Amino acid sequence: MKTDPAYELLRLFASPVVAITSRWGDRTNGMISDSVIRASISPSVPRLTAQIHKWHFSHDLIWKSGRLCVHLLHQGQLSLVHRLGFSSGRDGDKLLGIQYQPGVAGVPVLADCIAAFELRVLNTMDAGYATHFLGHVEAVHSGPGGDLLTAPWFRANLPPEWQEAWLANYRKAQEVIEQHSTIEDRRWPGPVPD
Ligand SMILES: Cc1cc2nc3c(=O)[nH]c(=O)nc-3n(C[C@H](O)[C@H](O)[C@H](O)COP(=O)(O)O)c2cc1C
Repeated sequence: MKTDPAYELLRLFASPVVAITSRWGDRTNGMISDSVIRASISPSVPRLTAQIHKWHFSHDLIWKSGRLCVHLLHQGQLSLVHRLGFSSGRDGDKLLGIQYQPGVAGVPVLADCIAAFELRVLNTMDAGYATHFLGHVEAVHSGPGGDLLTAPWFRANLPPEWQEAWLANYRKAQEVIEQHSTIEDRRWPGPVPD
């Protein structure tokens, strides 16, 4: 991956490492993100934003359904991060064998997490290479808990055998971002019935 002193400072803005699940039609999926942030400070207006690269399978499902579920993870969940965050759901069902319940809109709510937040997309912003989804929190679930899996903790505790794949994926994503940084005039048309 490419970095420099200014980018190392930008990395301090990383959010906790979360699992994002999605569903459209008969396909479910999960991915990992460290760029989901609180988007309102009022408990009566509960909102989060998620920045999702356009080439991810999750992007297709969230764009079509207008739904996603964000899970705060604990430090015992590195293998889930590897399962969901290192390969694409286009190549197989990444949720196979993982325990979950369907949420209010049928999006998987993972049993193991600190907390799960079911979101309905309200609006989007185009970033060229990614879409920023603004979501309203429709339901919150508490999981078994544990110590929060933060981005610095993830980087410090990434097993050495996953290091090479992590850096290669990071570099590939940086290349796509560098080639697609021009903003597109694209508004979210709303959910497509499944
Ligand atoms: C720690 C970590 C953080 C990540 N953060 C993001 C992110 O903020 N946005 C994003 O689009 N992808 C992020 N990714 C990459 C996706 O999780 C990964 O490419 C995933 O395989 C996409 O799966 P999909 O194609 O099945 O949707 C992250 C991956 C890891 C391991």
